[in-house]
Amino acid sequence: MRNREVHLVRRPVGTPVPDDVDVVTCDLVLGADQLLVRNTAMSVEPYMRGRMSEAASYVEPYALGEAMTGHATGVVERSDDPAVPVGSVVVHQQGWREYAALAPQDLEVVDVEGLKATDHLGALGQTGFTAWVGLHAIAGLRDGETVFVSSAAGGVGAIAGQLAKARGCTTIGSCGSQDKAKRVVADFGFDTAFDYHDGSVRDLLAGALAEVDRPGLDVYFDNVGAEHLEAAIRAMRDNGRIALCGAIAVYNATEPVPGPRNLLLMIWRRLRMEGFIVGDHDGRRQEFLDEMTGLVRSGAVVSPETYVGHGIDEAFSGFLTLLDGRAVTGKALVSLED
Ligand SMILES: NC(=O)c1ccc[n+]([C@@H]2O[C@H](COP(=O)([O-])OP(=O)(O)OC[C@H]3O[C@@H](n4cnc5c(N)ncnc54)[C@H](OP(=O)(O)O)[C@@H]3O)[C@@H](O)[C@H]2O)c1
Repeated sequence: MRNREVHLVRRPVGTPVPDDVDVVTCDLVLGADQLLVRNTAMSVEPYMRGRMSEAASYVEPYALGEAMTGHATGVVERSDDPAVPVGSVVVHQQGWREYAALAPQDLEVVDVEGLKATDHLGALGQTGFTAWVGLHAIAGLRDGETVFVSSAAGGVGAIAGQLAKARGCTTIGSCGSQDKAKRVVADFGFDTAFDYHDGSVRDLLAGALAEVDRPGLDVYFDNVGAEHLEAAIRAMRDNGRIALCGAIAVYNATEPVPGPRNLLLMIWRRLRMEGFIVGDHDGRRQEFLDEMTGLVRSGAVVSPETYVGHGIDEAFSGFLTLLDGRAVTGKALVSLED
């Protein structure tokens, strides 16, 4: 059968552009043990920018001239496996294409009772798991602490804020517009939020701490890096913890970006800063799902999403919309439904 998929055809320099990819029509041949999945939605995520470069990182670069990969939801259309019957809703890693040929061990059948399939890409997927790992396994969050989350209107950030709130924490968010700041408070329950364009992050964070009447931060969940990280280090209390999740402010940089200039404070205040990769924590995934599924089903945690494209032809422009960020709140998705 015919399939359409997005191939990386050259490595972007700085901000990616549409000519970096091609939408290719090709034949899809099912292997003996493979099932046919019609993809319904795919996730676009900042880490994909890193995979478009050749530079070594924690994950293999995308190959030139081949379909890219990433998380997707789909419906099984052909299967001889009784454990994964036709009609099963599944999550897998073969996004960036309309159909996927998958062995049963390369997909996960997901529960959609009282849930959207795309919740398994958002709050219940890698996005929510990243927030949970950063707060619990890395930062060792305790009830009632003061937590700062950058990119608080983003996929991971919106969930991190809600999880911290569920632990009775005071939550401060930063994001890229006043509208987003309002949503971060109204929809995701942050105590306060600021638009980082409104001044120096250092001053805005100090103002936010004064507003919530807290002496400093116990935890910083970093999605952004650069100026945000330096400002957060300055605002940390003794024994504070920083979970380094992402650094989107530097992903498109073409030159090395200087690190925080105030690392001496890490010593004086006995701070701990730790980077993490969510995939290293798969052993705790069931624990996360047990906790999170109930929170999402009950509405205690919402799984926000923005559709940045419709159809495979809009998948890459959707990715560019995500990187730009202004039009995206929560998890960025491309719909692949008809
Ligand atoms: N460590 C791991 O295992 C792991 C796993 C998943 C994701 N991550 C990382 O975690 C972070 C969050 O992931 P996500 O999928 O939820 O993405 P995300 O936060 O939704 O990323 C997109 C958002 O980033 C913000 N942004 C873009 N440029 C920025 C800049 N220069 N400064 C500040 N904010 C900027 C934009 O929002 P504004 O309008 O607010 O600027 C945009 O909507 C990313 O850095 C990602 O790479 C890490």
